[in-house]
Amino acid sequence: MLRIDSIDAWQAYRKNVDGDIGLVPTMGALHAGHLSLVNAAKSSNEHVVVSIFVNPTQFNQANDFEKYPNTLDEDLSQLAQSGVDAVFMPTFELMYPDNYIYQLTEKDLSTQFCGAHRPGHFDGVLTVVMKLLNLVQPNQAFFGEKDFQQLALIKGMVKAFFINTQIVSCPIVREADGLAMSSRNLRLSAIERKVAPQLYATLNSDSTLKEKTEHLNTIGFDVDYLAVMGDRLLVAATLGEIRLIDNVPYDMPGDKA
Ligand code: PAF
Repeated sequence: MLRIDSIDAWQAYRKNVDGDIGLVPTMGALHAGHLSLVNAAKSSNEHVVVSIFVNPTQFNQANDFEKYPNTLDEDLSQLAQSGVDAVFMPTFELMYPDNYIYQLTEKDLSTQFCGAHRPGHFDGVLTVVMKLLNLVQPNQAFFGEKDFQQLALIKGMVKAFFINTQIVSCPIVREADGLAMSSRNLRLSAIERKVAPQLYATLNSDSTLKEKTEHLNTIGFDVDYLAVMGDRLLVAATLGEIRLIDNVPYDMPGDKA
């Protein structure tokens, strides 16, 4: 597996790639959810490239960025074992030669749900994903459905800017107790980790949106929002210091509001 940490080296590599490329963009601290994206990429592309870049512009709280888990050695060995061809690991200076003076903003969906609680978050996500798509020029790029709003915004951006990459969405991978896999789960305390699966259980419970929200707030979460987006029920809630998100299919619009 090639490790590429400069734009020049990446572009030299890209020129010589023959065949389809599947890109899996990540911020590291990899788990089985990321590996499912890698497997999906492998199944439909000759080459799989994973980027690891903890993108500072999408963190609206310095503390969250500083404490973002870093498990680089483990990440690299998992990716090598999974048959990834190249890992692209740029620095901030390389990814943002403009120091983030140029930004990509979506003006509708990005202001709702997570966007309403994390100002600037989706500007950072869309800007870095656009940079990665332009650099890597993949045939397909793979994203998890856990970040459902992010996925919708990336699909919209690719369409709006005529980007020649197919965005492939992959199902949420869960722990045995239902908790959606997330790099941030590593930061939950032992007690919080026991409570965390209640987020998914509550989304699935037979109750109204108001009752679900009240229940989560009662058992220790601080709910940012619990709301329907299209055919999904989305939730974002903080447990201790850790903000968790999740979503489930929602097929009874109106009934449970
Ligand atoms: O979902 C993530 O890990 C990040 O938001 C992404 C897409 C890699 C952009 O930094």
